Amino acid sequence: MFAVRTLRSQALRAPMMVRTNVTLPKLDYAYDALEPYISGQINEIHHKKHHQTYVNGYNSSLTQLAEAEAAGDVLKTIQLQQAIKFHGGGYRNHNIFWKSLAPVSQGGGQLPTGALAQAVEKEYGSFDKLIALTNSKLAGIQGSGWAWIVKNKENGSVEVVTTANQDTVGPQFVPLIAIDAWEHAYYLQYQNVKVDYFKAIWNLISSHLIIVSTRNNRKVGKMSELHELCHLTARPIDKSYVEKLQYFLSNGIPSTYTVEECENYLAGKEDEELESTTTPLHLICRSIPDDIKPEEKLIVLEMISELFSWGAGWNLIDNEGNTPGDVLFRRGLHNSEYYNAIVDAGVRAELLLRKVNDDIEFLSDFEDGEVPELVDEEASAKDEPSNDEPSNDEPSSNEEALEKEREYQQKLEQVRKDLIEDPANTQSTYLKTKLEYRDGSLITKDNKDGVMMDWESELMKAGCDTIFSTVREFATDPEKFDESDFTDITVLNIGFGMGIIDTMIQEKNPTMHYISEAHPDVLAKLRQDGWYEKPNVKILEGRWQDTLPELLNQGVFFNGIYYDTYSEHYSDMLDLYDLIVGLLKPSGVFSFFNGLGADRQVIYDVYKKIVEIDMANYGLEVKYTELATPATTGEEFDQSEESEWNGIKRAYWRCKTYYHPEIKFQD
Ligand SMILES: C[S@@+](CC[C@H](N)C(=O)[O-])C[C@H]1O[C@@H](n2cnc3c(N)ncnc32)[C@H](O)[C@@H]1O
Ligand SMILES: [Fe+2]
Repeated sequence: MFAVRTLRSQALRAPMMVRTNVTLPKLDYAYDALEPYISGQINEIHHKKHHQTYVNGYNSSLTQLAEAEAAGDVLKTIQLQQAIKFHGGGYRNHNIFWKSLAPVSQGGGQLPTGALAQAVEKEYGSFDKLIALTNSKLAGIQGSGWAWIVKNKENGSVEVVTTANQDTVGPQFVPLIAIDAWEHAYYLQYQNVKVDYFKAIWNLISSHLIIVSTRNNRKVGKMSELHELCHLTARPIDKSYVEKLQYFLSNGIPSTYTVEECENYLAGKEDEELESTTTPLHLICRSIPDDIKPEEKLIVLEMISELFSWGAGWNLIDNEGNTPGDVLFRRGLHNSEYYNAIVDAGVRAELLLRKVNDDIEFLSDFEDGEVPELVDEEASAKDEPSNDEPSNDEPSSNEEALEKEREYQQKLEQVRKDLIEDPANTQSTYLKTKLEYRDGSLITKDNKDGVMMDWESELMKAGCDTIFSTVREFATDPEKFDESDFTDITVLNIGFGMGIIDTMIQEKNPTMHYISEAHPDVLAKLRQDGWYEKPNVKILEGRWQDTLPELLNQGVFFNGIYYDTYSEHYSDMLDLYDLIVGLLKPSGVFSFFNGLGADRQVIYDVYKKIVEIDMANYGLEVKYTELATPATTGEEFDQSEESEWNGIKRAYWRCKTYYHPEIKFQD
């Protein structure tokens, strides 16, 4: 059905072609909190003026670049690279700089313990030696520049590197600490004695960027302190949990820092691709104790909300294939407040994503062969290997960065091809794909993808009953309605498939029964089975997008409309809503096959709400009835004997309950 891939494709869409402005980050401390080592005045000017200038410069260069690209002005696009490098570097470097510092009261100047400390001791003998080395490199910077303590992704070693001007460190390094050696960072306080500034700043350096505890903690072994916290082992779960969580998050640990990233980090393999993303939120969902007390529950909810406010993902998949909501669902916490918090975050995220993507053309909007190149935000934000200036990097790392970039582009290209070539995802491909009617199902001939299966008959029956519901009510209670709505009983079904619902509709003997169908093989079946001869049937050949607008012109109005297509996405449904409001009689009823996100319960719950919100914008109200769904173990590739999905490549249904929608104009 249409919605199976809706969200998967959204997940793929998310990183594409989105360009948003960068903004000046808030500092985690007051301007004067770094005194006496760095004066409040310096910090304020440094942040509000200098850093802000880079933010503005970067944004405006990107805007100019987009304009130059649109105008085909090649020379201008080349000229702009320098400004992007300078301002983009200034923006990024300062972000890392602020995170590299902390007031003494918040851990500034405390040498790191754990994995980083061990690595430094092994390589340099002591942290002091590393500091001395950094200071000598700082002193050696000619003009303006930066010193960095980085972790080399290739060999895992901790290194000190410097960059000139606002050049930033390349993708082969994880920046741990950045020290600004521009005059604007110290002159007001230290004048020309910059060595004193370099000495003083070590009283503020914070090792929060990489908090890794090496404690061998019960069965869990090494992990980050953030992850340890989210295991909720210390009871009672009290306010200190929230405080610690806030501390980690505000000190630069991402809310989506995964167990896998941490493991890779500890093994010195940061650039290894992650196969799964077990986030702090997953850990919390796994760890909520069964005997939780009401006051502890409030704390856990506060932690969840804190994670979301720092950008935690509601639909990331952990090492067991579950989103945080799935984890709760499987633990029987389906209707809990934790679960609802995740669904609400999902609704917000999806609506926001739609807003962001509003101006973006989706892959499915393009015919084959005319798909634009994908621009990946993350990739373009990465350092471009510079060719205009000698850099600090070894030539080999430049080549490697290029090679990585090529690999990355290849992968994107593959994703693009897969999407386009998948009939379940792209209409133009689907409409060219051969179909086969085979015992109780309609499937794609080559791939054996289920288009329609007869276990859905129950759902079709519910659909048919629903679109005739006001016709039935009118028969018993005509007073309630405007009679003119019922002088003719006209219904529309979009998507014939196996004709299950159309056969049921015929049994109700409507005045007119419209059928919208786009696939040539299905139209052939309609012809073969005599549907064209039925006196009250009118077949609209072609995509509904092309045939329904004509009905608006003809003044055809419906008592009921049912929608159930294939390889369409929720964005298509949004287009459909525009037509539905125009085509329904005032007492008309709209329903659809609700497979929106049904391959995962949480996504199903999120889309249940999104439909309500979207329909309300049209003055329509949704009532859901819960129905049971057919045999499935809930697993992705359920091939068990008793499963409906045996022999079908992808199960498009994995939920135990079906939310059947009945949509009418609000009273
Ligand atoms: C899942 S089947 C419908 C099953 C139907 N409800 C039944 O009871 O048998 C989906 C149907 O929608 C058709 N379809 C897909 N996209 C369409 C579009 N844009 N316009 C009209 N029909 C479309 C497909 O060809 C397919 O026949
Ligand atoms: Fe600076």
